[in-house]
Amino acid sequence: MEFSLTDEQLALQGTARRFAVEEIAPVAAQYDQSGEFPRALIQKAWELGLSSTAIPEEFGGVGLSSVDTCILTEEVAWGCSGIATSVMCNDLGLMPIIISGTGDQRREWLIPCAEKFTLISFCLSEPEAGSDVAGLQLRAERDGDTYHLNGTKCWITNGGEADLYTVFATLDRSTRHQGICAFVIPADTPGLSRGKKEDKMGQRASDTRVIHFDGVRVPSSQRLGAEGEGFKIAMRTLDRTRPPIAALATGIARRALDESVNYARERKAFGNPIGTFQAVQFMLADMAKEIEAARLLTLQSAWMIDGGRRASKYSSFAKCFATDAAMRITTDAVQIFGGNGYTKDYPVEKLMRDAKLMQIYEGTNQIQRLVIARELLKT
Ligand code: CAA
Repeated sequence: MEFSLTDEQLALQGTARRFAVEEIAPVAAQYDQSGEFPRALIQKAWELGLSSTAIPEEFGGVGLSSVDTCILTEEVAWGCSGIATSVMCNDLGLMPIIISGTGDQRREWLIPCAEKFTLISFCLSEPEAGSDVAGLQLRAERDGDTYHLNGTKCWITNGGEADLYTVFATLDRSTRHQGICAFVIPADTPGLSRGKKEDKMGQRASDTRVIHFDGVRVPSSQRLGAEGEGFKIAMRTLDRTRPPIAALATGIARRALDESVNYARERKAFGNPIGTFQAVQFMLADMAKEIEAARLLTLQSAWMIDGGRRASKYSSFAKCFATDAAMRITTDAVQIFGGNGYTKDYPVEKLMRDAKLMQIYEGTNQIQRLVIARELLKT
């Protein structure tokens, strides 16, 4: 078992860390307040090779492993998790093409994304189908070689900014998961329109939208996999993208610990720095140990993916543990900062708001527990 990073991984980590410290962290509060989309920063991340990292080298991409992606994601998220979500979301949008596209489809869609800054969104969730993917209602009606899509997607990350969408729709809702198909759809396709931007509690720099499909015509050449394979493509995608979500949560948690340690050294109570009191020391110690455990679970699940193993259970372990830990750790950070922590003059209330989303998106932590339990009980 080897815990040390390679020279290449250390270099990648250094690039991501510098970008987070020098370019993201200084503007994170500003974007949190305005809710604007930091497009130039996301583009810079792409130029540095920190976004769309899953595109294989044979299609012009950087072809990072899952472990590499987790290493860089923790760093970017240290700077701001809203911005990190927008950076990461490209791999989520691209993954269905990477894992299920034919050679022609991968050349057609991946090469341009590797050559030119492009934003890609993953359109799975719907107003009445968040956790229950098999219950989705976006309708795909087949007419010869064309599908007509009608319906609505919601909570789509980068939805208002994307150039390309990977979209899941059903041929017949009564057939549940067996009727779902996956498609690649460019943003300028007639009938596709962007709806309301959500006014979120946290991660306000990421753009979260409703997307409408009103008679959107999609040629069958833009269908990924066979008819009815869309559900499994979505599940296999999420198996691969949950470890980076765990890494993102670890980045938030590490930032909360760093801020708390600095504050505990400086802030005085009863004539002494608050870090001299065991009540605060115990909170810091718990934060640090949970961060280490979260990182280990994350890298283990990523390592399984890189080894070609089915990682559903381990991806869910990592996602669930790291995001629950981030929630506890950021809540304790606010506690350590006391009254100051509850104001926007200090960075920890943002971390706590940002952490909450981690327990909800890419499958709620209740869904992660369901995935784990089903794997345990499988005969
Ligand atoms: N890999 C491959 N196949 C899988 C699979 C996986 N991980 N999981 C399930 N399957 C297969 C099953 O084996 C089964 O196959 P057969 O028909 O051949 O037997 C089929 O898929 C159906 O599986 P289930 O019976 O387990 O399906 P279910 O309806 O009970 O649902 C679920 C399972 C786990 C609840 C699923 O609906 C789920 O993961 N829900 C959460 C959705 C989610 O994570 N959404 C996140 C949206 S993206 C987002 O949030 C991103 C963002 O904004 C940044």
